[in-house]
Amino acid sequence: MLNYADICGKVGELMNWNGKFDGLAFGGDYNPEQWPESVWSDDYELMREAGVNLVSIAIHSWAQLEPEPGRFEFGWLDRVMDGLHGADVRVDLGTGTATPPPWMARLYPETLPVQEDMTVLWPGARQTYCPSSPVFDELSLRLVEQLAHRYASHPALAMWHVSNEYGCHNARCYCDVSAMAFRRWLEDRYVTLDRLNDAWGTAVWGQRYSAWEEIMPPRVAPTFRNPTQMIDFRRFSNDEFLARFRAEREVLRRVTPDIPITTNFMVIRHFNELDYWTWSEEPDFISNDHYLSGADTNPHRELAFCADLTRGLAGGEPWLLMEHSTSAVNWQPRNIAKEPGEMIRNSMAHIARGSDGALFFQWRQARAGSEKFHSSMVPHAGRESRVFREVVELGGALRKIAEVKGSEIESRVAMIYDWESWWASEAECHPTIDFNYRDISHAYHHALTASGHTVDFIAPGVPVGDYELLVVPGFYMMNEQDAAVIRDFVAAGGTAIITYGTGVADDDDHAWLGGYLGPLRDVAGVSVEEVHPLRQGEQVTLDDGGNADVWTERVNLVTADSVVIFDSGPVAGLPAIARNVSGSGVAWYVAAKLDERSVQKLVDRILDEAGLAAIERPPSGVEMVRRKGEGTSYLFVINHSNSAVELSVSGTDLLTGRTGPVSVAAGGVGVVREEDG
Ligand code: GLA
Repeated sequence: MLNYADICGKVGELMNWNGKFDGLAFGGDYNPEQWPESVWSDDYELMREAGVNLVSIAIHSWAQLEPEPGRFEFGWLDRVMDGLHGADVRVDLGTGTATPPPWMARLYPETLPVQEDMTVLWPGARQTYCPSSPVFDELSLRLVEQLAHRYASHPALAMWHVSNEYGCHNARCYCDVSAMAFRRWLEDRYVTLDRLNDAWGTAVWGQRYSAWEEIMPPRVAPTFRNPTQMIDFRRFSNDEFLARFRAEREVLRRVTPDIPITTNFMVIRHFNELDYWTWSEEPDFISNDHYLSGADTNPHRELAFCADLTRGLAGGEPWLLMEHSTSAVNWQPRNIAKEPGEMIRNSMAHIARGSDGALFFQWRQARAGSEKFHSSMVPHAGRESRVFREVVELGGALRKIAEVKGSEIESRVAMIYDWESWWASEAECHPTIDFNYRDISHAYHHALTASGHTVDFIAPGVPVGDYELLVVPGFYMMNEQDAAVIRDFVAAGGTAIITYGTGVADDDDHAWLGGYLGPLRDVAGVSVEEVHPLRQGEQVTLDDGGNADVWTERVNLVTADSVVIFDSGPVAGLPAIARNVSGSGVAWYVAAKLDERSVQKLVDRILDEAGLAAIERPPSGVEMVRRKGEGTSYLFVINHSNSAVELSVSGTDLLTGRTGPVSVAAGGVGVVREEDG
């Protein structure tokens, strides 16, 4: 039987998406409709200078493509497609459906999205549609059909870019049309009202439903709303967008069966509206948009996490960085420009972690509109600018490392990532607002990265496979099957690190009884009797000199041994870290949010014990990631630090041509071909 990675591989091979452009993809969103046509020839010349080979167009262009209902104007797009083809640039063609034209709101106001307090979101920005609207469905598919037929055999067409960042601005719609769709979705899921009443725990606060028509989206209510209703509404909203994607994809597959189809995900810390595991097998290949947070003093860590997670969604296959920024964005409170060299480090870090290219938002910086202060490949200052010079440099660097295309990452460690646990753990009325799913996963990802490992991400409930170490961070919402795969992995000799906040509730968000960790208690050899969140800023000490904050637990040892003990705080004298031999493997349980040093110390100890210590540990502030090709491997060394690094490994740096022991300048990047890899 094929596993998921094989299936992805097969689809990828069949579609050969990364064979649609030479070398690695390089380019970005291109919005020529914002400029007089006289600028276009300058665009093509600059694209040639930079080495651009792929651009995404028409993503938000519905209003230009269909200025009145049923009247299509493709002339301008024909000229853009032809012009790009003439400039040797391939096209990732948007289906234009991310933003409906203003006439749709005028003629069909019921297509407008509605917030939880029933505020209507009016036209004037973008993504102004309700994903459950049958009118939107019909009109958007009509546009896709037209586009697909018109450009089916255009030589510039390389791939389809369906909609844009589903759920970015209109993630949950609470309108009456959505309410009806939600009821249909609930009937499919629960079949009977009794089952729904059970799952939603409607005996609490007298919420029992006697008719499907009584059920509403979780609109603003007098106080805390039913948490299972909230989770189901998120599941429903996810599925509505997925249905939109599938509907467009089916039209495209019918008309252009050989053109690969993607939609750009938002695997980024601040976005958690979609459960991307439910999407991961749907496009022909995975693409992602990623932006740094200006408030983050170590943004490359978050980037590394997201790039690894995106590779997980791609089943380990190469994926495509569809958007990132050359410098500042425009949508944060303080939009911090990238330092010289930072953009190249960012692009290379995505490629190191599996992207077969680096695309940006956007090609030419807008003169007008909300995004005029968003950096671009060609900034307001024009060609004579630091940013454009770096863009040209990056284009040159990507040509030098083109042979890495198609190579993959091999990892011995994996982490379970669960969007539903993220959703559920953020619900109101929990032990503390400081429990943060992403913080927990990031802490262990960073420690593993710093110790020289590249982490693969896997979905909950799927067999763990050949990994040797598995991290299970804050897996709040856990069912029997989720626990069974972890149990099997440990029983067969694997090592697991399981953290606090795991196995608290089942899929209906009902608490596991008899001690948290629920079905995983036997594997961890402990039972969690009570949780003890800490006050804001409060720290407790551990008997090995470490600290913890935010969250502690009262843990009872069953078969596990205590390794580190709380020295102070509400559970002083009880285990903070426990170790349990289970089958042929070992499970570690961490009952608190440890400080960064303690996480690193613990991870290093576990790696050592499991025989997984990396041969060469990256110096501080340096990322080291290997992509394996046929008979060779490529070591990416990304130096975020202020000093040059010398490593003991050697090879040929594809960027400089230098052979021998690897050295990388402060702020620089090395991509080293290791002949014996
Ligand atoms: C998203 C969108 C783009 C653009 C960028 C700006 O990623 O897809 O259209 O708005 O944000 O950062």
